[in-house]
Amino acid sequence: MGTTVVVLAAGEGTRMRSATPKVLHTLGGRSLVGHVLTAVEAVEPERVVVVIGHGRERVAEHLATIAPRSVPVVQEHQNGTGHAVRVACGAVAVPDGATVLVVCGDAPLLRGETLQRLLGEHREQGAAATVLTALVPDPTGYGRIVRDPAGELAAIVEHRDATAEQLALAEVNSGVYAFEAKFLRDALARLSTDNSQGEEYLTDVIAIARRDGAPVATVRAADFAEILGVNDRVQLAELGRLLNRRVLEAWMRAGVTVVDPSSTWIDVDVRLEPDVVVHPNTGLHGSTRVAADAVIGPGTTLTDTVVGTGAHVLSSHATGADIGPHAHVGPFAYLRPGAVLGVDSKAGAFVEIKNSSVGAGSKVPHLSYVGDADIGVGVNIGAATIFVNYDGVAKHRTTVGDHVRVASDTMLVAPLTLGAGSYTAAGSVITQDVPPGALAVARGVQRNVEGWVERKRPGTRSAAAAAAANNANKQSTDDREPA
Ligand code: UD1
Ligand code: CA
Repeated sequence: MGTTVVVLAAGEGTRMRSATPKVLHTLGGRSLVGHVLTAVEAVEPERVVVVIGHGRERVAEHLATIAPRSVPVVQEHQNGTGHAVRVACGAVAVPDGATVLVVCGDAPLLRGETLQRLLGEHREQGAAATVLTALVPDPTGYGRIVRDPAGELAAIVEHRDATAEQLALAEVNSGVYAFEAKFLRDALARLSTDNSQGEEYLTDVIAIARRDGAPVATVRAADFAEILGVNDRVQLAELGRLLNRRVLEAWMRAGVTVVDPSSTWIDVDVRLEPDVVVHPNTGLHGSTRVAADAVIGPGTTLTDTVVGTGAHVLSSHATGADIGPHAHVGPFAYLRPGAVLGVDSKAGAFVEIKNSSVGAGSKVPHLSYVGDADIGVGVNIGAATIFVNYDGVAKHRTTVGDHVRVASDTMLVAPLTLGAGSYTAAGSVITQDVPPGALAVARGVQRNVEGWVERKRPGTRSAAAAAAANNANKQSTDDREPA
């Protein structure tokens, strides 16, 4: 018989103080509920029901995107965890003999292996209910696991309902359980609201099982972090650090050098090849992929960016860019969506590139803006070149042929084509197409007004320096006069 997963995600999350529903807050580039839905995949569930309430439209929309096969069920009023599971089981047909796995939507560090172990133990013991527990350093707020003299689970007592003696117990309820479906349905129908919060507690199902003599079991999580929930932004940051550490350790074991784990942040969907080196203060986000031998950072943020083998990316930001093998980027480059750098190319210091391709071996080394351009192979773009792509209304493209030399401080006013092997003269404003092999010069011709400074700026240091230089020149000319 299959497994039905029930994810509890209807709570408000008041302490987040946020316009965003709690389970939609993200860690490592994935929503809290997204982490939980990923973990439950490990048990190959027959169906996944998500109980939603607060912010239901946004949560439902998110679920449709990340887990279209999950079934959202609305819990109109949040009358407790027992009520939430009752609503879920009422909304879908769960056959007797099936297993119901209940998890919380706000506990993102739960591992798939732990759920497999929980279900394995549940089935092996033939239990009606099996509770995932953990020993935590600070049990404040959690339901306590109360055991009978034989060490069997007797009841789960909520923090607010616990005696002083029970409060001292360090073993707590994770909020994750496996239930036998028929037992669960019968027990849920018998829950009362006779407790300090006036809610239907799912935890009371355990006491009911004991009263009925139905077998209950427990499984203890190896790592208590797995059961930690997010209630406020302090916990969000703490769990973010734990998750990041887990992600980094997996990459380090897979052959990636992470020089400083404390200042390196890698989202869960990022993929890295062995022998990538990540330097400090670096963030790799979204769907970023980095190939072998690439060196990233320090001080680099890459989002949804592809980096080829052996590329170097130093102190730069890139979003939606494709950095080719052995390309060099930075320091202080800004690559925007659609920037495609070819093999062995370069985007150097203070260079911004958007929606443009830079061909193999081509270089944009310094202080340039490249927008809406197609640059061929072996091109050099001189310092401070600007691709003038915007006329105030529309964007236009520029095509630069192979082996072009664009001199420093050239304005390339689009739409424009520079033919293969052409040159521009420094300081030119190029507004017309340049034929292959031509030199384009578009600037004022220089004229020197002799003696201007001594006449117009007399008494200044410039005038004195000019007079001294002119005298020295005159002297050396006189010295060279034949006797
Ligand atoms: C619950 C457990 C507690 C356990 C703890 C683990 C109960 C009575 N207590 O306490 O023993 O140690 O989890 O984190 O179950 N939710 C709904 N609908 C509701 C109420 C809650 O969907 O009507 C959801 C919440 O959004 C949350 C989860 O259920 O994701 C847990 O609810 P919460 O109120 O946080 O339970 P705790 O008081 O923390
Ligand atoms: Ca909680």
